[in-house]
Amino acid sequence: MRVGILTGGGDCPGLNAVIRAAGRRVMTRGGEVVGVREGWKGLVEGLFEPLGPREISGLLPRGGTILGTTRTNPFKLEGGVEKVLATFEREGFDALVAIGGEDTLGVAARLHAEHDFPVVGVPKTIDNDLSATDYTFGFDTAVSVATEAIDRLHTTAESHNRVMVVEVMGRHTGWIAVVSGIAGGADMILIPEQPVSIEDACKELRRRHERGKDFSIVVVSEGYELEGLAEADDVDQFGHARLSERGVGAALAREIEARTGYETRVTVLGHVQRGGSPTPRDRVLATRYGLKAADLVEERKFGRMAALHGDEIVDVPLAEATARLKTVPPDWWSVAQAFFG
Ligand code: F6P
Repeated sequence: MRVGILTGGGDCPGLNAVIRAAGRRVMTRGGEVVGVREGWKGLVEGLFEPLGPREISGLLPRGGTILGTTRTNPFKLEGGVEKVLATFEREGFDALVAIGGEDTLGVAARLHAEHDFPVVGVPKTIDNDLSATDYTFGFDTAVSVATEAIDRLHTTAESHNRVMVVEVMGRHTGWIAVVSGIAGGADMILIPEQPVSIEDACKELRRRHERGKDFSIVVVSEGYELEGLAEADDVDQFGHARLSERGVGAALAREIEARTGYETRVTVLGHVQRGGSPTPRDRVLATRYGLKAADLVEERKFGRMAALHGDEIVDVPLAEATARLKTVPPDWWSVAQAFFG
């Protein structure tokens, strides 16, 4: 079989580990693997690179993606879908492994549903917001970067009696904020799913300071709705605004200082959360997903995505994974909340 493999959307640690694992299994079975460059753009414009045993070796600890990535949406480009189908046919591909989040896999699901396109998916994103899987790879690494940052901010917060606001990524879900906040012992966590008002947040901080704690750590997700903050208007081909542009962390820090009088500083973690080497957990998850994707290709189970259910790697319909965002459920929130104030 001649199998194409692409990485789309924001990069994250573990992409190369999937390429390595899927590539290894396809090659072991006598198949041929071709790298499609820069996500769906590579199939629109015909950008490829051959992947042999040499190209896929040494990839396990390597961050980013050796194939490059973009947020190209063929459904938004004039003749984009026709180009994807024609390129795929011309190159003699039998199957495609698409590694991505809701946008990249949303395109894969539509191509499969509307054109019977032979694609399988692998769930990637630091945001952990894909449905039908317990975890996406990349999330554990982002949480571990954010947790380390929170630990470091604790010591300086304590020395200066300050409130430290830490802005983390996550788009419209608060997974990174909640899990790193619990792991780092945050005193307040603000996420899109739980609209705690700035007034209530400040009340909790005052309560804490009245108990004799002179410093606080506040973790805020980039998608948290802060009253009065303007929406970012720069959107990508999937209609997503660049949330980091809103500056929710800085605005929140100003508001906390104005309302409480406590000296406040902000740290925006940004793309540091997406860079560097994957954690062991992400390496293993990415490897298991890559092997499963190769198995799905071999079995011609197209329109499916590798997924984690408990400790098992299973496969689920791509359409189910991309139907809606997986938001932080109330029981996770109540674990975080037990330590506020
Ligand atoms: O989806 C992953 C993610 O890192 C989000 O958490 C964030 O909002 C977005 O991508 C940032 O995108 P970009 O790299 O295009 O600035």
